[in-house]
Amino acid sequence: MKNKFIVLIIFSACIILLSFANNASDHSISKKDIELKIPKGFPKPIYDFKNNKISPEGFILGRKLFYDPILSKDSSTSCQSCHQRVAAFAHIDHTLSHGIDGKIGTRNVPAIQNMIWKDTYMADGGVNNMEVQPINPLTNPIEMNESLAHIIFKLKQKKEYVALFKKAYKDTIINSERLLKSLAQFTGLMISANSRYDKYLSGKDTFSIQEKSGLQLFRAKCSGCHQEPLFTDNSYRNNGLMADSSLNDIGRGRITKIEGDNFKFKVPSLRNIEMTFPYMHDGRYRKLKDVLNHYSSTISHNKTTDEDVTKIGSLSDKERKDIIAFLLTLTDKEFLNDKRFVDPNRK
Ligand code: HEC
Ligand code: HEC
Repeated sequence: MKNKFIVLIIFSACIILLSFANNASDHSISKKDIELKIPKGFPKPIYDFKNNKISPEGFILGRKLFYDPILSKDSSTSCQSCHQRVAAFAHIDHTLSHGIDGKIGTRNVPAIQNMIWKDTYMADGGVNNMEVQPINPLTNPIEMNESLAHIIFKLKQKKEYVALFKKAYKDTIINSERLLKSLAQFTGLMISANSRYDKYLSGKDTFSIQEKSGLQLFRAKCSGCHQEPLFTDNSYRNNGLMADSSLNDIGRGRITKIEGDNFKFKVPSLRNIEMTFPYMHDGRYRKLKDVLNHYSSTISHNKTTDEDVTKIGSLSDKERKDIIAFLLTLTDKEFLNDKRFVDPNRK
């Protein structure tokens, strides 16, 4: 009896040790880890790393910055406070973004994935360069509320950053250009292209009858805007959402001041859609079921509502379920569990 007990204890200890060994995060980054591989079937990226040569050290610096609340005024908020890795860098279950001092923003936090294929950023396309995009959250009073000059000042006081910048850029200069370039090396390599859908297309996985039917329906009804393989055609469209009068968000029209652009929003990618709920620029829908219900029966018709959504028409229960089954094949476990993107402060 006693012997059995000892064996059991030794056995459990081994299991615990093994699981520790498996979980121990290894934050090292090799040259191979930062190779930019364009997935098969993807177009040429729009962002060019030519003027921002990726290096393991640049990537490591960008990652450290992304996870560091020092970038916000009161050291409370980092990029990851809003962009969570497990949610493809969106914010799980928050309708509108939460910034410094608990301040609530006006838009839902989008995923960060396949950014180098975007020509513009934000739901209204208000930013057209991936490198300068972070200036927005960094300086926005309801997000991180800090000035670039003060961030640089703070980084220069930290030995760790002095060393990291030196490793990445081979001299002692720390400036906002380098800060932004390293962040771009980190976020630019967030590429999702290994979902079951991708494996199905390359013959490495199979689809159920339901998933196949969903893909067919998707191609007939949705891909006019959510174009494969990125699941966006980078255009701005009005997909028939009833405007929320409390937010008064007119989308693209805010940027162009053209009335015909009112209520148009950038078509979002649908990759990892299972993880990025809630949905739409204001996070109004919690479930994919609600989204399908919207396209099938609650389209609001106004001057800019897109023909491609009015054409969808009513979807049967089965059709909705099939489309959802297909959308779930866009979850990319390899991307979501990619160790390169894990918080380097996590042991
Ligand atoms: C307070 C929450 C919050 C913080 C902190 C934050 N973001 Fe965001 N981020 C958002 C929201 C909300 C949007 C979408 C805004 C919009 O559409 O107008 C966004 C958009 C983006 C986009 C563009 C996505 C797209 O598809 O257009 C990128 C890239 C991004 N953030 C990177 C960062 C980086 C890098 C940091 C840290 C320097 C950061 N964010 C900090 C909330 C946040
Ligand atoms: C006319 C173009 C168009 C068509 C057709 C269209 N969509 Fe969309 N879709 C959009 C736009 C634009 C948004 C973003 C709206 C917003 O942010 O308010 C969106 C948002 C979504 C979202 C939420 C994404 C997110 O991250 O919040 C899902 C899911 C979605 N669409 C699925 C579909 C499905 C399924 C179909 C086919 C039944 C479809 N769409 C047809 C333009 C379109």
